[in-house]
Amino acid sequence: MDCAAREGIQFSDSNGVRRLPAAKGSKKPTILVVDDEVASGQVLSVTLKLAGFRSSFVSSGEQALGILAGSHLDAVLSDLKMPGFSELELLTRIRRDYPSLAFLLLVGRNDAPIGAQAIKDGADDYLLKPVEAKDVLRNLRRALDRKRVEQEALELQQRLEQLVFERTAQLTSALQNADESYENTLLALGAALDLRDGRTDHSRRVCEYALEIARRMGCSEVQLKSLSQSALLHDIGTSAIPDSILSKRGKLTPEECNTMRGHVQIGYDLVSRIPFLRDAADLVLSHHERYDGTG
Ligand SMILES: [Fe+2]
Repeated sequence: MDCAAREGIQFSDSNGVRRLPAAKGSKKPTILVVDDEVASGQVLSVTLKLAGFRSSFVSSGEQALGILAGSHLDAVLSDLKMPGFSELELLTRIRRDYPSLAFLLLVGRNDAPIGAQAIKDGADDYLLKPVEAKDVLRNLRRALDRKRVEQEALELQQRLEQLVFERTAQLTSALQNADESYENTLLALGAALDLRDGRTDHSRRVCEYALEIARRMGCSEVQLKSLSQSALLHDIGTSAIPDSILSKRGKLTPEECNTMRGHVQIGYDLVSRIPFLRDAADLVLSHHERYDGTG
C-alpha cells in the first residue's frame, strides 16, 4: 500500500486528477486542507494543485483560523477530528465568520451521521473516507460553483437594493421639487388675484391664519396641505367677476351681489379640474359658508 492509500486517499481514477483550466480572467480558487494526519493532508493538497487549484495545508484548526484571518480563501477541506476542537467546532467558527467560504468535511464511514449534521450546520458537503480524488474534485467544484452563484445572487440583490435606494431618493427629490413648484405657483397666483382686487397679501395671510387654526385643531399633514392650497386660491373665482363689481365703491345691487356670490362656484369649477387640487376644490366652494351651513 502506498502512502496515499494508507492515509485514506485513493487515486484509482486517473480522470479525477486532471488539471483544471483556470477560468478566463479569474484567479485559481484557493483551497486550504486541514488535517492532523500530515501525510494525508499533504497528499490531498498536492492533488488539488495537480487539478489546477492553489492549495496549502495545515495540521490544526487553530492554524486554519490563523490563515483565514490573514488571507483570502475560497474553500476549506477539513478532516472531522482535529485535536483541540470538538467535531464540528471548526465548521461552526468558519461558517460564522466566513459565510461565503465553501466548506467540505472528510469523515470516517462510521461518522456519516455527523456528516449529515454538518450539512445542516452549514457545510457544503461531506465525503466519506477513504476518499477518491475524483470525488473530492467533483464535490469541491460543485461547492465552489454553488458559492459563486450564491455570491453573484447576493451582489445582484445588493446592486438592486442600491438602485432602488437611489431611484427612491431621486423620486423623493423630484416630488419635493414638484411640491415646491406647485406651492410657488399657487403663491404667485394668489398674489396676482390680490393685486386685481386691491387686497395686498390677502391670500397669503388667509392661508397662514387658516393653517394656524387647523394645526391647533389637530388636522393632519394631508389636510393642512389641502387647506393651504385652497386658502391661496379661495377667491380664484373673482377672476371672472367684472371690475365694475369687484372694484365698486359702495353697496352692490342685489343683482351684483348674486354675480359676486357666483365666484365660489366659478372657483370650484376652475380648481376641481386640476387633479392635484381636487381636495382643495371643496374648500374653495364653501369658503363663504357660515358655521351653521347657512352662508
Ligand atoms: Fe371669497
